[in-house]
Amino acid sequence: MKSGPKSRAMYERATESIPGGVSSNFRYWGDEETLVVKKAKGAYLWDQDDKKYVDYRLGFGPVVLGHARQEIIDHVAEAMQIGNCFAMTNEYEIRVAEKIKKLTGVDYVRMSNTGTEATMGAMRIARAFTGRDKILKFDGAYHGFHDYSLWNTYPPTSGVGYRWSPFLVPQGSGIPRMIGDLIYSLPFNDFEFLESRLKERWHEIACIIVEPLLGNQGSIMPQPGFLDFIREQCDKYEIVMIMDEVKTGFRIAPGGAQEYFNVRADLVTYAKCLGNGFPAAAIAGKAEIMGEVGPGKIPHGGTYGANVVAMAAADKTLDLIADGELEKADAHGRKLKEGWKKILDASGLPYVIQGPDSMPGIVFTEEPVCTEYRHWAEGDHETYDMIIQKCIEKGVMPDNDSREPWFISTQHTDQDADFVLGVFEEAVKETVAEL
Ligand SMILES: Cc1ncc(COP(=O)(O)O)c(C=O)c1O
Repeated sequence: MKSGPKSRAMYERATESIPGGVSSNFRYWGDEETLVVKKAKGAYLWDQDDKKYVDYRLGFGPVVLGHARQEIIDHVAEAMQIGNCFAMTNEYEIRVAEKIKKLTGVDYVRMSNTGTEATMGAMRIARAFTGRDKILKFDGAYHGFHDYSLWNTYPPTSGVGYRWSPFLVPQGSGIPRMIGDLIYSLPFNDFEFLESRLKERWHEIACIIVEPLLGNQGSIMPQPGFLDFIREQCDKYEIVMIMDEVKTGFRIAPGGAQEYFNVRADLVTYAKCLGNGFPAAAIAGKAEIMGEVGPGKIPHGGTYGANVVAMAAADKTLDLIADGELEKADAHGRKLKEGWKKILDASGLPYVIQGPDSMPGIVFTEEPVCTEYRHWAEGDHETYDMIIQKCIEKGVMPDNDSREPWFISTQHTDQDADFVLGVFEEAVKETVAEL
């Protein structure tokens, strides 16, 4: 969809001082397509030309309680009166750590600002704790923008090679090749391959970092037992299991994926929904490991970690989540999934709907189930893109990148669902007619 005149003018102005006109490459939709936001409230977002959208991007997921949520704004505004950044512990931070412990069952928490920082810190803790250097991740998983994470995120399928002998592909230039010597990336959901790689290499591996579901690959779910298998293997070889809950934490259940899948990791990383869009993040986990973080032991720091604005936002967000609000997002997601199923069955397109109710994904594929990156990559993303472009034109905005699931907030209503399904049906029919 081409942007309107005001968005276009504002975007062109942005390009004068911001490379590409965006502060994250993922926000660029094309020179004539990249929108500039004017405001957002609840489940809705308006661009500079006052076009309204039902928002299913929610800032790449965080805004689970809705945009500009009044209770959070009020709590943050009040908290800011005491100052923001002190180089000292503050009470909001203690409250947030206590609430994270209560909701998720972890023993200890250290605050960060972004998911990238949290996963980078968790990897360091795992290395220090085990005295080993290598990281094992899964193809298609994204763990943030640092150099240890950007391997086999979304290369062409030919790039990652045959699943039994995968290649390592950096996401782009500037990522040192030699860092790749410290990374293993294996197909998600492949029990056998994981077992054999660990049998050979366990002594080098500090941690297995796993997105409990591939929230950056249209929400590919773990096969039954896969996360338990990782848990068992980590116990067997004394490898640290890191569950990267940056997308799933405080979204798919109050206790995140650990609760949803009933698996306990050694370390867990949180960001996104922890602050409902404010930059709050955390590394959390078992006392045995997290208790080793500290002066003279395992290094961790950051000027802005636990600043009052982020902590006050998290403090209120966690209260609302503890009160059971996530149920509303789940109910909306279920309604969308049921509607999509009817519409797509009637369309004749082969498809898979996957993922938890509050972050479902759709992949157009003949595969009965998508279990790993290669299945997803072989899907028909052109058809998906055509449908989503039409949805955006008609005022419904999931991400136009088919790797991102639809993010649902507790502010999306039944009325929104009826509107959205009507738009989706029209978009599917128009697309099928054009194929
Ligand atoms: C699973 C996962 N981990 C880490 C990150 C990085 O988080 P951030 O963008 O806050 O640095 C993301 C971001 O999308 C993510 O999805």
